[in-house]
Order: sequence, then structure tokens, then C-alpha cells
Amino acid sequence: MVAVTFIIAALLLLNFLEPSLRDYFFGVTDTKMKQTAANSFDQVVKLSRVLLMMILVIVIVRALMNAVFAPLFRASTGYEASSIIRNAFSIVLYVIFFVFIFKNQFPDVDLGAVFTTSAIFGVIIGLALQDTLGNLFAGISLQADKPFQVGDVVNIPSKGTGIVESVTWRGVKIRTFTNRILLISNTSLGKEAIEVAPKNNLNARIVFFNTLYTDSPAKTLHIVREAVREADNVSQKIAPIVRVRDLAASGIDWEVKYWLVDYSKYNDTDALIRQRIWYAFKRAGITFAFPTQTLHIAPRTKIETHQDDTTLIERLSNVEIFAPLNEDEVSRLASTSELRVFAPGEAVIKAGDQGSSMFVINRGRVRVQISDNGKPRTVATLNEGDFFGEMALFTGEPRSANVVAAEETEVLEIGHQAMKQLFDTNPDLVEALSNEVAERRAGLKKEESKETVEDESEGLFKTVKRFFGLH
Ligand code: CMP
Repeated sequence: MVAVTFIIAALLLLNFLEPSLRDYFFGVTDTKMKQTAANSFDQVVKLSRVLLMMILVIVIVRALMNAVFAPLFRASTGYEASSIIRNAFSIVLYVIFFVFIFKNQFPDVDLGAVFTTSAIFGVIIGLALQDTLGNLFAGISLQADKPFQVGDVVNIPSKGTGIVESVTWRGVKIRTFTNRILLISNTSLGKEAIEVAPKNNLNARIVFFNTLYTDSPAKTLHIVREAVREADNVSQKIAPIVRVRDLAASGIDWEVKYWLVDYSKYNDTDALIRQRIWYAFKRAGITFAFPTQTLHIAPRTKIETHQDDTTLIERLSNVEIFAPLNEDEVSRLASTSELRVFAPGEAVIKAGDQGSSMFVINRGRVRVQISDNGKPRTVATLNEGDFFGEMALFTGEPRSANVVAAEETEVLEIGHQAMKQLFDTNPDLVEALSNEVAERRAGLKKEESKETVEDESEGLFKTVKRFFGLH
């Protein structure tokens, strides 16, 4: 404001003083010499006017750039206008105003001719400024391409990583994560492969970790996803993805991929996530395998069973169809059955397969599914204490449906031989199971009358007895 007032005052003073000065020095232009001097005085005054007006234009254009152009540019693109754009825009305005002011003061001078005669100087200056001009044009092409903007995180392998602070005529200014300034000329930047994480983009990171083989993958996956999802600066738009990368020497290698709200803070967020995983593991009793190597001297190859036989006996004695069995029979059944663990979504039984065992759910949940026009349709969901797979076991027919683990599920597998021993001593069991199988078969069909279920149960009873060689 002060500058504008000062220049306007100078212009007014010049206009005011010009006639008096002219009169004083060249009042009477009687000689040719005086005439020439008077003309030169006029030219100097006009040039001074052009100069003052151009200074005024520069001050006003700069003020407009900051007050109008920059906010408009930010509002429409979401980015700060780089100095190349600001300068290019300002120069266009300066040239327009210069031509206008110059023509106003020197109507007779041909500006085109002035620029043509100065072309030779242009070549000389061009050669002298070869590097600077190279940077300038590289900068212009960078602006046209727009590979990155102010505020983006860029990684230039040979130089480093940081946040773009400005893009100028000469080069790019990057603030590294150690708060140093990296200045790279536009020409050398044009030759580099640059990795850009745009500011307004959902950029992802991957954090690695490791667990012991004894820890359940389904549980780890769930715990890590929840722990990461709740950390600061993790975007809520996409849920973190947790994956097993490798079954490595010292344990299971994992990765968690998450998306950041503000990518420039990825170092802090990675660190926070590692910390959250540590605490979540501590609460859940999961153990990191990294960086130690865990040596197991294992008596058995099975890793899934942590339970003693008493828990299994209790589980089996609570299964309705095994209610008629005495304690000895239940404990024999428990000792001859095998514990198996299935991942969420994994098939325990596939429709059409042959099968000679049935299962009791010890922990978890399964879905019984049949194919309905090529799509899986769930006919029943079975929970802890329920059994399945008895149809094929009792009749020798192929498996009637798919049975899929709905979550991490532990089942007790009971084989043909164990069942045969039970049938020999508990003839009632055959009838109870035949009824159950008939009911379930009815559930697989669309409509079934009560009579048909009873008939079927009767038929099944005979089939099972025959299949197991019972009298
Ligand atoms: P199986 O035929 O050996 O294999 C698929 C199993 O799904 C089947 O034994 C039953 O245990 C179970 N199944 C089939 N139909 C039903 C149903 N309607 N309700 C509950 N379980 C079922």
C-alpha cells in the first residue's frame, strides 16, 4: 500500500513538475541544439513515466496474485500454485501492460521493430543462459505433465524422500524427513524415476510382522486388523488387509496393508501400528517369532490340540445322540477320535466325496450348504456340540452337502470303526441316528411330508444295520 501511494505520488509530481522544468530549461527553443535537448528531455520524462507505471503494475499484479489468483487456484485444484505458474501468469500480465503503457507514451514507436532488432541480443543472452533456460523449459514441461504438486511426498531413489515444498523456474525444493532441504534442478529431475504419493490420494503402506506357528492364523488376522483399524491416521475408507506372506523358518511371516489419511506422516504411523500390534498380541497371548528362532522339540506332529481328554469327554457326553452311552464308552470314543482345526471358509466336507467319518464341533461354527442353481445355499448352521457327516458314515453314500467352517473351527473326527463298536453295544443308537439323518435329508429337499420322513427313517435304520453288519 505504501509502495503504491509512493509511486502514484512520484507520477503526480512528475506531471506537475514537467511543464515548469521544461519552461525553465528550454523555455525558448530558438537554437537547433536547444530543440534537440528539449526533445531528449521529453523522452526521458516519458521513459520515467513508463518505468514508474511498470513498477506500479508489478506491485499491483503481485498483490492480486496473492489475494485473488492463489486462493482461486487453491480452491479449484486443491493445491498451492507453484511459483512457475505464478510467474508465467504475472509475466503475461506485465507484457500486456507494458505494451499498453509504452504505446500510450510513445505512439510513434514500432514495438515490433524494436523486438526484431533485439533478436541478435536474444541469441547472445540465450547462449549465456543456456543452463538456466534448460531448467526453465524442464520446469515448464514438469508443470505441463504435473507428475507431482506442492505437498506431495516424493521419493527420488538417488536423492532421498521428502515433501515437495516448491516448484520454481530453476528446480524443486523438497523437505526431507530429517528436516533438510533438498534442491534438485529441473533438468536433473527430468532424468530421474520419481515415486510420487499424491497428497489427495489414498496412499497405502505395508508393515511386516511375524508370529509363532502355534498361534492361530484366523485369530491373528482378526486381532491385527482391529488393532490397525483403530490407530490414528489410518483411513476408515478401506479396511486394512492382513495376509500371510510366508511360512518361514522361524514362524509365520505376515503383512498388513493399510491406507493413510496423511501420507507424509507414514513413519510415525508405521511405528504406531507396530506398537499397537505388540499390545494387541500381548492381550491375546500371541507371540512374535521375529527376530528369534523358536526351536520346538515336539513329541507329536499335531499342533492343533491343546486340550486334555477330559474336555473332549465332556464335549462328547453333551452331544444329544451320545446320551445313551456310559462313561467308559464316551471316554473310549474320545481317545479314538482326532481333533482337527479348519480356517474360516475352509471346507470340512465336500458334497459328492466319499466319507467314512463323522464330526462333532468342539469349537466354532459351520454352515451346511447345497448348490442351488450353481450358487451355495445354506440349509443349516451348526454350532459347538452339534455333529455332522453322519449320513455318509452310516449309509456309505457320497457326502450329501458341503460343510464349510464359518469361523476358525475345531472338530472331533469319529471314524467308522469307533462307531461300529458303539453300535454293537448300543442298538438304540442306530435308531436315534437314523431318525436324525431322515430329518436332515428332509431339510435338504424342498417339501417333505411327515410320513415320508418316518418311512425314510425306517428304511435308513435297515440300511445302517446292513452297512455296519449289525443284527
Ligand atoms: P454327509 O452327507 O456325510 O455330509 C454332509 C453333511 O451335512 C451331512 O452328512 C449331514 O451331517 C449334514 N447335513 C445335511 N443336511 C443337513 C440339514 N438339513 N441340517 C443339518 N445338517 C445337514
